Amino acid sequence: MHPVSELPGKPTSAAATTLSQIMTASETNLYGTVHGGVIMKFVDDVAAACAGRHSGGTALTVFMDEMLFLVPVRVGDLVHASAQVNWTGRTSMEVGVRVVAERWNESVPSTHVATAYLVFVAVDSDGKPRPVPEVLPESAIDRRRQAEAEIRREHRLARRAAIRRSREVEAEPERATDAASRG
Ligand SMILES: CC(C)(COP(=O)(O)OP(=O)(O)OC[C@H]1O[C@@H](n2cnc3c(N)ncnc32)[C@H](O)[C@@H]1OP(=O)(O)O)[C@@H](O)C(=O)NCCC(=O)NCCS
Repeated sequence: MHPVSELPGKPTSAAATTLSQIMTASETNLYGTVHGGVIMKFVDDVAAACAGRHSGGTALTVFMDEMLFLVPVRVGDLVHASAQVNWTGRTSMEVGVRVVAERWNESVPSTHVATAYLVFVAVDSDGKPRPVPEVLPESAIDRRRQAEAEIRREHRLARRAAIRRSREVEAEPERATDAASRG
C-alpha cells in the first residue's frame, strides 16, 4: 500500500498531455533514422509537462524505468507523444508515455513506435520533495495502468534494496580488514 497525499485527488485526464513534432534531417543518427536520444528527450519533455500539471509545480525526473523502441522513427514522421500519470505515491508519480508516428503528409493510421515509464518527484522551491495529489483513474485502462505501475514500483524498490544489501555484504570484508590492520 502506498502513502496517499492529503491534497484533493485529481482525475487522470486533468494532466494528460500530448506533444507533437515533425522529425527532420537534423534529428537523424548515422543510419538515417531518428536518433533514439531525440525520442527520449521528447518523452521526458511531455512526461515533465504532465507531472508538472498534475503536481501543480516543479517535478523532476528521478528514474527512467523503461524505454521500449518498437519501430524506427523516420524523417518526415509526425510523432505524437501522449503522457498520463499512472500512479502516485506521497511525493513521486509514475508517468507513462505512448509514442505514435504517422507520415506528415499522408492520411494513414499511426504506428505505435515507443513506450516509456518515468518516475518524477515533485519538489518545492528548496528542491525538497513535496506531496502530490492522488491520481484518480477514470477508465478501465487507467486502472490497469495504475495496477501495472504498482508492480513496477515494487520491483524498483526491491531491486534498490537488494543492491544495497549486496554492497553492504561486499563492504563487510573490507571493513574487517581495515579494522584488523588498525590493530
Ligand atoms: C528528486 C530528489 C529531490 C529526491 O530526493 P530524495 O532525497 O531521494 O527524496 P526521498 O528519499 O524523500 O524520495 C522522494 C520520493 O522519490 C522516490 N524515489 C527516490 N529515488 C527513487 C528511485 N531511484 N526510483 C524510484 N523512486 C525513487 C521515493 O520513493 C519517494 O517517493 P514517495 O514520496 O512517493 O514515496 C533528488 O533525488 C534529486 O534532486 N534528484 C535530481 C533530479 C533531477 O535533477 N532530475 C533531472 C535530471 S537532469
